[in-house]
Amino acid sequence: MASAPREQWTSRTGFLLAAVGSAVGLGNMWRFSYLTAEHGGGAFVLLYLALTLLIGLPVLLAELVLGRGAGRSPVEALAHYGGRSWRPLGWLFVAAGLLILGYYSVIAGWTLRYALTAVIGGFPEDPGAFFGEISSGPAALVWHLLFMGITVAVVAGGVKGGIERTSLVLMPLLFALVIGLAVYAAALDGAASGYEFYLAIDFSQIWSFETLHAAAGQAFFSLSLGMGAMLTYASYLSRREHLPNASLVIAGADFAVAFVAGLAVFPLIFALGLSGDVGESTVGALFITLPKTFAGMGAAGRVVGLLFFVALAVGALTSAISLLEVVVASVMDGLGWERRRAALLVGPAIALVGIPAALSLDVLGTMDQIAGNVLLVLGGLFLAVFVGWVMRDPMAEVQPGAEGVGWFALWRWLLRIPVPIILVIVLWQSLQALLGE
Ligand code: PFF
Repeated sequence: MASAPREQWTSRTGFLLAAVGSAVGLGNMWRFSYLTAEHGGGAFVLLYLALTLLIGLPVLLAELVLGRGAGRSPVEALAHYGGRSWRPLGWLFVAAGLLILGYYSVIAGWTLRYALTAVIGGFPEDPGAFFGEISSGPAALVWHLLFMGITVAVVAGGVKGGIERTSLVLMPLLFALVIGLAVYAAALDGAASGYEFYLAIDFSQIWSFETLHAAAGQAFFSLSLGMGAMLTYASYLSRREHLPNASLVIAGADFAVAFVAGLAVFPLIFALGLSGDVGESTVGALFITLPKTFAGMGAAGRVVGLLFFVALAVGALTSAISLLEVVVASVMDGLGWERRRAALLVGPAIALVGIPAALSLDVLGTMDQIAGNVLLVLGGLFLAVFVGWVMRDPMAEVQPGAEGVGWFALWRWLLRIPVPIILVIVLWQSLQALLGE
């Protein structure tokens, strides 16, 4: 076992920005937009918000409590509170981290490529063909490897010097970019039809199981839940931290960024009359439709497009860091390895896992379905059962730093009954959808 004292965040802001950095990423801009487009706009947004509050927040607090209480990475934290038989759940988390980062890094690579295109040649006339060229094959592979290299470099730099420092610089930049883009989009002629699609709620859509499992999967994916990322970050926290407040800040910021990103994306698409393209949404729709918009906007489009893809890349990086950290911290705790060595070994292994996704868009889409809608939901279900039923006194672990907060009873009750019931239904639906395909 590792004997060096555990690394710690330097400040509360540092931890919060790193955790928000994990949550805010491609999920908020790319995944949220295409799912919203696919599931009818406002109805999806409303359901997603409701599920974030009802299942996302309780599971987020559960991860924070487990991580800070045990001060270990997932496998050891579960064994600490539940005994050795819970270790396999930690391995499931590590496996999910490997799988998700594998394809996540491929998409992040596309964003770097698009940002470069905006700088050097401008957006292509035929973004569909361009996307076809760069989204899979050797081009995708090269950018995937480059992105993984950057991620490994940050994680090898440590909790303070790598992860916290990067988040302190990049997260404020990301907030500014997303807000700036939304303000710019608001001034476009035709923005109103974008808002209407995005915000008008067609209640008949809410009652579809398809929308339900997509929204639940998105709530987990977007909050980085169900695979121990938040747990791992919380393991570097001091006992002075007010965990319930931290969970509210993280979930609030994550939803806010997704929502504001939607306020930029939908007006941009509708202002140029490209809404038809989004209707047939697939994994890549955003990468084709938006560049079409930017290409049609002349010089301004190049600047706005550049800022958009820089925001995506920045969000992707701070999330990828947390995905890698779960695996690296597990290797450090489990094998007693030192950080650099762990990062340098795990990074290339994940790069290999991503290769099939870099070679085929279909494989990438399937990996995303399996990870978001099945693995994270499964992980969240087990976490809820663990903290709700197995862990002896979770209240005692929340209490330090949060004395006098009254809603804990509700929190544990949510984890015990409603959250598992909802997640079992969602999982069943997701599996059926996946196998049906
Ligand atoms: N939350 C990230 C996003 O929205 O892009 C993705 C993610 C990061 C998922 C870390 C899971 C995770 F553990």
